Amino acid sequence: MAKSKTHFICQECGADSPQWSGKCFECGAWNSLAEFKEAKTKGSAIKGPPLSLSSVEAKSLNQFVGEAQQNRISSGFPEVDRILGGGFLMNSILLLGGIPGIGKSTLLLQIAGKLSSSKKTLVISGEESGLQVADRAKRLGLSLENIQFLSTNDLDLALQQLHSEKPEFVIVDSVQTLASNSLESSAGTVSQIREVTQKLMEFAKSTSSIVVLVGHVTKEGTLAGPKLLEHMVDAVFYFENLNEGALRILRTQKNRFGSANESAVFEMNEEGLVEVLNPSAQFLSERQSDASGTSVAALVDGTRCFLVEVQALVQKCFHGFPRRTFQGIDQNRVALLMAVLEKYGIDFSNYDVYVKVAAGARIDEAAADLAVAAALASARLDKALPKDLLLVGELSLTGGVRSAQHVDLRIQEASRMGFKQFIISEQARYSVATDKIKIKRVKNVQQLKELLWVKSPSSQAVSPSINF
Ligand code: TYD
Ligand code: MG
Repeated sequence: MAKSKTHFICQECGADSPQWSGKCFECGAWNSLAEFKEAKTKGSAIKGPPLSLSSVEAKSLNQFVGEAQQNRISSGFPEVDRILGGGFLMNSILLLGGIPGIGKSTLLLQIAGKLSSSKKTLVISGEESGLQVADRAKRLGLSLENIQFLSTNDLDLALQQLHSEKPEFVIVDSVQTLASNSLESSAGTVSQIREVTQKLMEFAKSTSSIVVLVGHVTKEGTLAGPKLLEHMVDAVFYFENLNEGALRILRTQKNRFGSANESAVFEMNEEGLVEVLNPSAQFLSERQSDASGTSVAALVDGTRCFLVEVQALVQKCFHGFPRRTFQGIDQNRVALLMAVLEKYGIDFSNYDVYVKVAAGARIDEAAADLAVAAALASARLDKALPKDLLLVGELSLTGGVRSAQHVDLRIQEASRMGFKQFIISEQARYSVATDKIKIKRVKNVQQLKELLWVKSPSSQAVSPSINF
């Protein structure tokens, strides 16, 4: 006879406690513990490593690699396969998080469209009707006949369907909208999310299937629901905006069967989501490289690097109160860089200053300081920078140039995009081959100024051979 076990789960952090208390012992939230009753069924709970990976005898590790590869299936998107670690792994459960409207349902529907010709596919939606989804699938040019669709909020009904149909690829959109009748709490609460995930995980592990859960993210960027959801699943991906336009980035947050910190870029257009293999080219596509006030910064996101264009416009101010307008970059950061440049004789006091990161991109890395400062100085002096120049480094308030992380990655990406001249900090370490490129080191803003605009014979740090 199944015996029910009661525990209390914090609605804020998902911490599990055998007793009720007014304050969560884990995160300190008040009044956040809710009762959770769990049916105790022998042997059904999944604990520790996934069932699919358990075996009765020891084997050479090599054999496991071979078996894992056989269990992989392609999503139909090479970039998605790459960040998955070589395709979807059978018997796994994954979570795709992102803010509403970012494109989670669209991406998964497109994957379903590609997979459904070879794998039995079921979409369970608690958010959209069959008509809506069919209409969108048609507009995306997907073949509809092989995609099964169930519109429900009822977990028990969904499980019935899953066990009778035994689909191999399942999309659950979203985990926050499904609820089990065996619990009193409503859909989206920690106990429901936990129950829904547990049951779907049992399905994925006990049948040869792949379950992808969609999870909504709040405006603050956290998953609406507990961290516990992230702990339970095999892999977690987040879909986010890469710029203010149509570019999206799919990031791996966790992957038990592949490397974390991977990302893939997509563009949302009329055909749905399309892979973008060269985001740097998109960001730099409209760059007028011979104009003054433009420079290029290399941004690193996980293991990827993107080049973005920084534009600055500095105009004499005729109305007493100089204007400062910045887009795609923190205004305090630019104010700080301007103050450092002023100390070195580049005066902005009676000038309007505008700074923009082109193509709706955003700079959040101090490694781009040098590039932003160079764009500002170039605009103020009205002298263009070499068009194949990349600057990498952080500026300190004293005017010193500090090293940035991932210098190799940034140089490699820029070299690939045709950049041949690099300015980095004196301390920066790199190991890339330099036979086709020129790398100069600068210690401070003074040396940067001399190198770029004022050639000083006294400066020993600057080699005259560089052709700036
Ligand atoms: P969607 O994939 O539904 O986002 P999510 O599942 O992450 O909430 O929608 C992505 C974008 O596509 C959204 O901005 C609206 C647009 N869209 C359409 O143009 N047509 C459609 O039929 C749907 C559903 C969405
Ligand atoms: Mg959706």
